[in-house]
Amino acid sequence: MSEKLWGGRFQKSAEEWVDEFGASIGFDRELVLEDIEGSTAHVQMLGKCGILTNDETDAILGGLARLKEKAQADELEFSVELEDIHLNLEKMLTDDIGPVGGKLHTGRSRNDQVATDMHLYLKARTKEIIGLTEDFQKAILEQAEAHVETLAPGYTHLQRAQPVSFAHHLMAYFWMLERDKGRFSDSLKRIDLSPLGAGALAGTTFPIDRHLSAGLLGFSGVYENSMDAVSDRDFIVEFLSASSLLMAHLSRFAEEIILWSSQEFGFIELDDAFSTGSSIMPQKKNPDMAELIRGKTGRVYGNLTGLLTTLKGLPLAYNKDMQEDKEGMFDTVKTVTGSLRIFAGMIRTMTVNKDVMEAEVGKDFSNATELADYLAARGMPFREAHEVTGKLVFTCIQKGCVLKDLPLSVMQEESTLIEDDIYGVLAPEAAVRRRNSYGGTGFDQVRIQIAKAGEALGRTVR
Ligand code: ARG
Repeated sequence: MSEKLWGGRFQKSAEEWVDEFGASIGFDRELVLEDIEGSTAHVQMLGKCGILTNDETDAILGGLARLKEKAQADELEFSVELEDIHLNLEKMLTDDIGPVGGKLHTGRSRNDQVATDMHLYLKARTKEIIGLTEDFQKAILEQAEAHVETLAPGYTHLQRAQPVSFAHHLMAYFWMLERDKGRFSDSLKRIDLSPLGAGALAGTTFPIDRHLSAGLLGFSGVYENSMDAVSDRDFIVEFLSASSLLMAHLSRFAEEIILWSSQEFGFIELDDAFSTGSSIMPQKKNPDMAELIRGKTGRVYGNLTGLLTTLKGLPLAYNKDMQEDKEGMFDTVKTVTGSLRIFAGMIRTMTVNKDVMEAEVGKDFSNATELADYLAARGMPFREAHEVTGKLVFTCIQKGCVLKDLPLSVMQEESTLIEDDIYGVLAPEAAVRRRNSYGGTGFDQVRIQIAKAGEALGRTVR
């Protein structure tokens, strides 16, 4: 005879290794507090609806409160034979309060129970991730405020393109994160629904009140269809999808941090706390944390693809395949929260080598567009201005100099529209300052942008 809580119709026990393969307790123990919370609301509801007597309700609630204390003190010991967190806790409850503990499961199934646990879990973690994203945005904003007038090379194709304000470059990530937060917040609407009371798939014969238990758990609504409630994991897919995009943004930023901190760029120096040395090369200081964040992006994409693949083709309603929804979700929560924390610290503590960036900007042709625009503003068709500028760039390359080094007479050989004021126009600082179109890199625009960003975070910035 099986010892299992569902052992009634079984004639023999499964072998230990079969139990192990089917068990989820190794990872769903992460849901211990949510499971107790869900059970507590369920029992309160059963009591209020007269399905359990007051004595029964009080006994079960007392037992659940004791379990919660033990869980918080990390004193619970789980068994693989009891398969998952739900059966483990129910057994512990019954061991504590006697057979009345068996009434906890009235009008409920593990299918709506596990779905409820995950909604509770993901709702809280999504809020935490939104908070951490916001803190990371603050770190970016602090550096941006300090570097509005710091010039940096701007790139396309990783080739020098046009000079920009370093703050402008950093702020691009601020806005990506703002949209990431938007995606997480939006998904909250759909996470905020209670599956509890859907039963195994069809609802229950007991006169339960699903809205009551939903309210007790802080959900704003309930799933309208019991089969949908227990069988979809779209709320987790959305979470993994928003996380994947967030990680894509972090990974791009990480890549830039890695480039910028290299000897070839030398634009920033990372704080020792966020770098590591080499066991063989004493001179090295590696941007390991940025590399790890870039690397960890892969596992988050993998978790998304994994769950989408698990769900594909599953008939309604619950299938054991769905137990596979958890590890990727837990892993993603851990990866995303860790990456956000590390990144915020890395940005807050990095040193920006303003002099290096500004010296670089003076040494290249990223002001070529200024010359072309200058000619166009004096009436030359832009295509022709582009051609004239290209020729002058070529002259410079042959001479081994940059545009500002060319004497006026040489420039005028290509166009008499060029006058002495060109040297002021070619200064990188002027190139940045004059890009005053809305959302552009001009210092005034960057200040407006920073003020808007501060408003978005609900704080005032200069
Ligand atoms: N451990 C299971 C899971 O995570 C709980 C639900 C089990 N339901 C069932 N009918 N076997 O999916």
